[in-house]
Amino acid sequence: MQDLSSTIEEIRGRLENSRMPVVLSGAGISAESGVPTFRGAGGLWKNMRAEDLATPEAFERDPVLVWEFYDYRRRVLAGVRPNPAHYALVRLAERFKDLTIITQNVDGLHSLAGSPKVLELHGNIWRTRCLGCGRVEENRDVPITIPPRCACGGMLRPDVVWFGEALPADVIEAAFEAADRTDFMFVVGTSGVVQPAASLAPRAKANGAYLVEINPDATPISTVMDVVVKEKAGEFLPRLVGI
Ligand code: OAD
Repeated sequence: MQDLSSTIEEIRGRLENSRMPVVLSGAGISAESGVPTFRGAGGLWKNMRAEDLATPEAFERDPVLVWEFYDYRRRVLAGVRPNPAHYALVRLAERFKDLTIITQNVDGLHSLAGSPKVLELHGNIWRTRCLGCGRVEENRDVPITIPPRCACGGMLRPDVVWFGEALPADVIEAAFEAADRTDFMFVVGTSGVVQPAASLAPRAKANGAYLVEINPDATPISTVMDVVVKEKAGEFLPRLVGI
C-alpha cells in the first residue's frame, strides 16, 4: 500500500494537468464543522432518520414535526463555521477558475467559505418556499415560527429537495454537464447512496475522469475510484493544496 505522501504526490501530479476539476461533496465535508452526518452517529433526530422526515408525505402528515426537525438543524447550523476542508477548496478555486463544487449539502458552508461556483443539488436550508404562491425567500430566523407562513397566507416549506422529489432541473443539468466534461473529480464525504448525486462519480469515470475519494470509510462508489484516501477531509485537503 502506498504511503500518504506518495498518494499526495500522485494526486497533485494529476491535478496539475487537469483542465477542469470538479468536487462532489456530501455531509462528511461539514462533519469537522460540527454538523452531524445523516448516516453517522448523531444523524438521528428523536430516533427518526432523515428519510422519515425529509419527504413530502411526512410534511403533509405533520408539517409541525418536519419543521421542528428543520428548526433543529438550522439551530445546529447557525452556530457553525466552514472548516479547513471548505477553505482548501476555496484555495483550489483560485488556481482553477472553473472549479465547480457539486454539493448535496444544504448548509451553505461552501459559499460561506467563499467558493465561487457551487451547485446545491438538494437546495438550501436557509431558504423557504411558499406552497401557495411559490415564492422562494432567504429566511435565517432561528428559531423559526412553526409552521412559518408566507405574506400571502400560504404555508412555507424548507427550500430543500426531499426524498422522492425531483432535483431542480437547471442544477442537476449543470451537474451532469460538469461530470461529463471534467477530467478530475474529488468525491468528498459522501456515502454515495443517494441518487442521482451518487451517479455523478461513475458518470465522470465513464467519460475518462480521474476520481479521488476522500472519506475515512469505504463507500459503495469506492470501487470506481482511481484513488481512495481514507482520511478526514479537513485534515487531508489542506495538506493536499498546501495550506
Ligand atoms: P451521509 O451521512 O450519508 O454520509 C456522510 C459520509 O461522510 C460518510 O460516508 C462518512 O464516512 C463520511 N465522513 C464522515 N466524516 C468525514 C470527514 N471528516 N471527512 C470526510 N468524510 C467524512 O451523507 P451524504 O452522502 O451527504 O439528502 O447523504 C446524501 C443525502 O442523504 C443528503 O444530502 C441528504 C441525506 O439524507 C436529503 O436530505 C435529500
